[in-house]
Amino acid sequence: MIKEEFIELLIDEAMKARCMAYAPYSNYLVGAALLVPSGNIFTGCNIENASYGLTNCAERTAVFKAVSQGQRHIDAIAIVGGPLEEIDTDEISKDVDYAYPCGACRQVLSEFLPESGDIDVIVARSKKDYKVLKLSELLPNSFNL
Ligand code: THU
Repeated sequence: MIKEEFIELLIDEAMKARCMAYAPYSNYLVGAALLVPSGNIFTGCNIENASYGLTNCAERTAVFKAVSQGQRHIDAIAIVGGPLEEIDTDEISKDVDYAYPCGACRQVLSEFLPESGDIDVIVARSKKDYKVLKLSELLPNSFNL
């Protein structure tokens, strides 16, 4: 189970990454920050495209950044998402649901499990308003070879 100090740090980094989101089509901005065993943090945002299907989610941006820099294990990931109107704040209102990772991102995360065997997934609206879930509960029986 991830320590509270890391949870707040990851949420803070995800909030900052969210400000970089390129989402002119949905106006829904997402930021993600993941923790690897060395203690390093990698962040990502959603990156949309005029050809909608080419959009990359914030979680996968963060995972691909980490893996492309030599990481193979993810201990935890924090995700913050909400509409554009909620950008100039460090808190997303309670009227907006938590940004749960989509199915594709769950499967991609399941490729890079840590020694413990499970990833902590933190969905957050602020540093004080969050839920901690296990990847295994979000994606039971994930596909693997
Ligand atoms: N999005 C993410 O970044 N992560 C998810 O897990 C689900 C959706 C993005 C994709 C798109 O840019 C916007 O949210 C609306 O679907």
